[in-house]
Amino acid sequence: MTRTVLLTGGAGYIGSHTFVALVEAGYSVVIVDDFSNSKPSVLTRLGRLTGLNKVEAYEGSVLDDAFMERVFNAHEFDAVVHFAAKKAVGESVSYPVDYVETNVGGLTTLLRLMDAHDVRRLVFSSSATVYGDPDIIPIPESAPRSYTSPYAFTKLMSEQILEQAAAADPAWAFGILRYFNPVGAHPSGTIGEDPSDIPNNLMPYIAKVAAGELSHLNVFGDDYDTPDGTGVRDYVHVCDLAMGHVKSLDALMASNLGHTVNLGTGIGSSVFDMLQAYSRACGKTLPHVVTDRRDGDVPVLCAEVDRARELLGFEAKRTLDEMCASSWHWIQTGAKE
Ligand code: UFG
Repeated sequence: MTRTVLLTGGAGYIGSHTFVALVEAGYSVVIVDDFSNSKPSVLTRLGRLTGLNKVEAYEGSVLDDAFMERVFNAHEFDAVVHFAAKKAVGESVSYPVDYVETNVGGLTTLLRLMDAHDVRRLVFSSSATVYGDPDIIPIPESAPRSYTSPYAFTKLMSEQILEQAAAADPAWAFGILRYFNPVGAHPSGTIGEDPSDIPNNLMPYIAKVAAGELSHLNVFGDDYDTPDGTGVRDYVHVCDLAMGHVKSLDALMASNLGHTVNLGTGIGSSVFDMLQAYSRACGKTLPHVVTDRRDGDVPVLCAEVDRARELLGFEAKRTLDEMCASSWHWIQTGAKE
């Protein structure tokens, strides 16, 4: 029997890759997106990639009760995968109330509708940011949670709301996925990350340097207590991450038991590691300048990955070179279309 899944934020970066993975796994997927940080043309690309004649999609906001009610009335959903949210740490410091409204309000609106329509399974996009500046590396899921930005606060609060809901009513089954640093693009070059402004994140910034749109990378500090002095992160290929959502959903369908897992590789890479890997991918040495540390950055974030492997059978396999090569392929092909 084909299962039908509501995918909020399905035209976005991680959402679009997850759409492909879900369709390939046999799910029927309905997208809701307000295109506030994505383009409607992604839907055509998703149709091309999956071979579907029509990608089922609705334009609107998860904050809009009446709109969401119409979507829920039009389909019999078995589960929801919820991406639609704001995700820029710096922006959240300037607009904290907007972040709470969209990220927390979007989740509670969704939960109310799910409850009313008896849809009890949800895969939720959380983030390694809920670990704050962790004491233990690699970070186990049992590590204490905290927050260092309004964005992180909304992810932590969302996790807690889900925990309270599940404790109050065991019919709920939530897959809480804590992403580390998603990068790269679909190997076809058809979909990828496409920030319209100057990127905040490392990989899209390096990609623009490689494409000649920015002169050099600013390395935010080389005096951290790390092997080469630059920040270390657990970069995970977006296609591996997308597969993590399929595994999470499969587990919720099979057992109706919730889980909270890290999605990463367990391997830490520095800013210089990433710069070198991208230089290999694009075939030229990319210029950089070392600048001051960025406010709020922590030295090292790296996942302990055992729980995702044991509970979901999830393993992120793609290498840093594959992450950079797929990003560069996307920048040279799909992103220019
Ligand atoms: N960095 C630079 N120069 C840049 C951009 C980043 O040196 O122009 C460095 C940062 O200092 C950091 C590393 O590259 O050491 C990674 O920075 P990113 O901005 O790419 O990613 P973050 O780890 O800061 O944050 C990301 C997401 C958050 C999420 C977090 C969880 O942006 O949404 O991962 O780990 F919460």
